[in-house]
Amino acid sequence: MTDIGVIGGAGYVGLVTSVAFAALGHKVTSMDLDIPRVRMLMSGASPVYEEGLEPILGELLTRDRITFTNDQYQAVQNSDAVFIAVGTPSLADGRADMSSVIDVAERLRDQIHKYTVIVIKSTVPFGAVNVISEILSLKLTEGVDFDVVSNPEFLREGSGLIDFFSPSRIIVGSVSERAQKVLRNIYQPLLEGTVIVDVPWIDSVQEIPYVETDVTSAQLTKYAANAFLATRISFINEIAGISEKVGGNIEDIVLGLGLDPRIGSSYLKPGIGFGGPCLDKDLRALITIAGENSYDPVMFEGVLHRNELQLREVMNKIVGALGSSLYGKRIALLGLAFKEGTNDVRHSLSIRLYRALRDQGASVVGHDFLAVQEAIELEPELEATSDLEMAIKGSDVVVVLNPEASYSEIDWRSLVSSGFSPYAIDTRGVLDVDALSASGITFYVLGSTA
Ligand code: UDX
Repeated sequence: MTDIGVIGGAGYVGLVTSVAFAALGHKVTSMDLDIPRVRMLMSGASPVYEEGLEPILGELLTRDRITFTNDQYQAVQNSDAVFIAVGTPSLADGRADMSSVIDVAERLRDQIHKYTVIVIKSTVPFGAVNVISEILSLKLTEGVDFDVVSNPEFLREGSGLIDFFSPSRIIVGSVSERAQKVLRNIYQPLLEGTVIVDVPWIDSVQEIPYVETDVTSAQLTKYAANAFLATRISFINEIAGISEKVGGNIEDIVLGLGLDPRIGSSYLKPGIGFGGPCLDKDLRALITIAGENSYDPVMFEGVLHRNELQLREVMNKIVGALGSSLYGKRIALLGLAFKEGTNDVRHSLSIRLYRALRDQGASVVGHDFLAVQEAIELEPELEATSDLEMAIKGSDVVVVLNPEASYSEIDWRSLVSSGFSPYAIDTRGVLDVDALSASGITFYVLGSTA
């Protein structure tokens, strides 16, 4: 059992990390500056939607295996390892904003009093570990040793616990054997498949690859993974665009591509583009890092460019469906979060689309199963609902932006018989095209019909 502190413990990554390490049997003190979120977490409620998190959190709180606090010292004083999971948003020039990480390091300088491993979970530029080490270097003169390690996360929002407990790999970057040993001990229960609470996704027979490397390689692996996923999405969006022009069917193309084991089928679903707080931000940061190191990342610039064009093309389809003016037209956007299964609307392309439509005079109604409140907090003028029928009825155009299974079950026939016949735009290939045709609704499926 290791005493672990987590800084930034109320965000997606920090919270999943805190709960998961406590479930592995470690004693976790999780710190966040957001006092309302800390209070919520102490009462067993999660401020973010993560599948299966609340029951595990409740059990860990009852058994006193996890504590949330807004006092960093409390999370650091007894900890052998302190995980930093604070946000590193994009600055205007594409670099990652390191200010929260630096603030944490400056507080750590006054707080660590024995050998401590500082573990960077946040995705940070390559110099970050040196910056943190420099801030903490004063400690060495006081006889307090430390190591700064990179342990990138590969957690998808909404299914973070699933990804944590059945990871494709664990990567730890540090040349310090002492630090590597601490991290190995922390992950040992996961490698052995042992937990102290009921975790449905743990598999005691799984072989989890565990990669020990240097800090820079660990960090670059994380950037490369997100760049690769973004590249696949832009790739398939480009194929969808070509397919549409030449009269192909993108669903069949994706199937045919994915059956090649060298290619596989994940991250090949066309759509409005990649949104969310990670893929776009990390790709921009990687492009900036390449530029700062005199390397021209032409391919990644193309990936970003395709992503921007994709949103514009969906906008053009809506304009095309309605004629030249959107003024007074009612448009239903199905899916407000940046993807399905999350309540996160940060960097959601649906929200960007809403803004563009609103600015052209359209009246927009947004639908989401999880993110209505968050969308309204971000865009107070947006009419948003979790009632699908209410969103669709009375709309001139219905645009599917997230691949929610329920969207395939929309009863178009009864909609038409109650006097509504919107134009349907499906950017995610989820609508039942036979039902649309049978009910006489005009529709467009991205990548398949012009
Ligand atoms: C991502 C990475 O997957 C995760 O490993 C990393 O640690 C954090 O960033 P996340 O931001 O939760 O996770 O989103 P993800 O599920 O990867 O989706 C990103 C965006 O790509 C979403 O907008 C999604 O709708 C879009 N997407 C994804 C597609 O358009 N097509 C796909 O086939 C897959």
